[in-house]
Amino acid sequence: MHSLAGRHILLGISGGIAAYKAAILTRLLKKAGCDVRVAMTEGAQAFITPLTLQALSGNPVHTSLLDPEAEAGMGHIELARWAEVILIAPATADLMARLAHGHADDLLTTLCLANSACWVMAPAMNQAMWAHPATQRNARQLESDGWTLLGPDSGEQACGDVGAGRMLEPEAIFSALSTLMDELPALAPAGNVLPAAGLTVTITAGPTREALDPVRYLSNHSSGKMGYALATEAIALGAKVRLISGPVALPTPEGVERIDVESALEMQTAAEGALDDSDIFIGCAAVADFRPAEIATHKLKKQAGEAQMHVVLTRNPDIIAGIASHSHERRMAGQPSPLVVGFAAETRDVICYARDKLTRKRLDMIVANDVSTPGLGFGSDSNAATLLWHEHDTIAQQAIDACPKLALAREILLRALTLHHRKTDIGPRKRR
Ligand code: C5P
Repeated sequence: MHSLAGRHILLGISGGIAAYKAAILTRLLKKAGCDVRVAMTEGAQAFITPLTLQALSGNPVHTSLLDPEAEAGMGHIELARWAEVILIAPATADLMARLAHGHADDLLTTLCLANSACWVMAPAMNQAMWAHPATQRNARQLESDGWTLLGPDSGEQACGDVGAGRMLEPEAIFSALSTLMDELPALAPAGNVLPAAGLTVTITAGPTREALDPVRYLSNHSSGKMGYALATEAIALGAKVRLISGPVALPTPEGVERIDVESALEMQTAAEGALDDSDIFIGCAAVADFRPAEIATHKLKKQAGEAQMHVVLTRNPDIIAGIASHSHERRMAGQPSPLVVGFAAETRDVICYARDKLTRKRLDMIVANDVSTPGLGFGSDSNAATLLWHEHDTIAQQAIDACPKLALAREILLRALTLHHRKTDIGPRKRR
């Protein structure tokens, strides 16, 4: 049974081109067993008909505040009380502005004002509108009022522009909502503080380079994109972020402290140096398992007639296993210790290898992904993964379908934050 089964979801749809995707979202929610009721603004009805949503949700669609027939069925206050979560997708710039100012000039805004459960929205608009200081101000206001904003995504827009403003895909919204519905009540302390506020997250990212001589090295194809996406999202969730980065061609996300390293040994030194003040440690780097046993002082020269060259390699330390082991010792001694999250990039038997690594390396959680899927993983902007963690005496797991790495990063962080809060015994809190 899906964790969303039986939940009362009020899906609000406002008037943007992404409104047609609300149909897919409704289907996903219904398939998961949710009880879905839909409220549409007037603008939304220009893009998709209430009849479509009625057929998909299996319930009458609510469109007007002043409709005596609808009010006789389920009045707006009753509907607001019924909803465990209000999910608005798409949320237009205008709707965001009205909500940020507490308007109640149509059914959807009135429902939001009258509801005190969990509020989630997926903004969707032209990139210039999203970037406008007024929208950004409204977004901050909404977050501080208790709204969780999912996205927007970046990319090509219906109007031909390219940039941030696209609505997240319905699958990504659905999977983020699943995590939020399970976990966010336990995350957000009263006063709407961001869920990672006050926490330090250390992330390793990118490849390592293992020198053979002054001009050559052994390395791998890691682009660092996943680690950098994690750093970006951890900042958005309010954390202090330290990024220990191998050589990559990526800009440092704003607000992140970046420590550049080359070899596995340098990465290990930086990681161990960060242990003391990290609340969450995420090992996303593709660390070389071996390094040349000796680094030649001068450039190696090929000899005449030499058909082969033998290089002796030495095993590199397993950085994350070392961090996890220190963390474990501290936990046993009752001292503060970071929650340790690893990655398992595999080409076969993905879950099986990931389970083994989770236990063997004494990690708190592992992100397993199949790097043999074309278009996903290494170098790509998207990824799919399964999160695995210890739950009582078993290993729990959560599959996340292919989505932008930023959306995946948020899911990973939300799960890690939940486990961290549980570990530090903050206990469940009400969302607002
Ligand atoms: O064993 P494997 O390399 O597949 O494990 C992957 C996980 O272990 C990743 O989290 C990676 O960052 C970490 N790792 C490490 N040091 C190594 C090898 C892997 O921290 N030497």
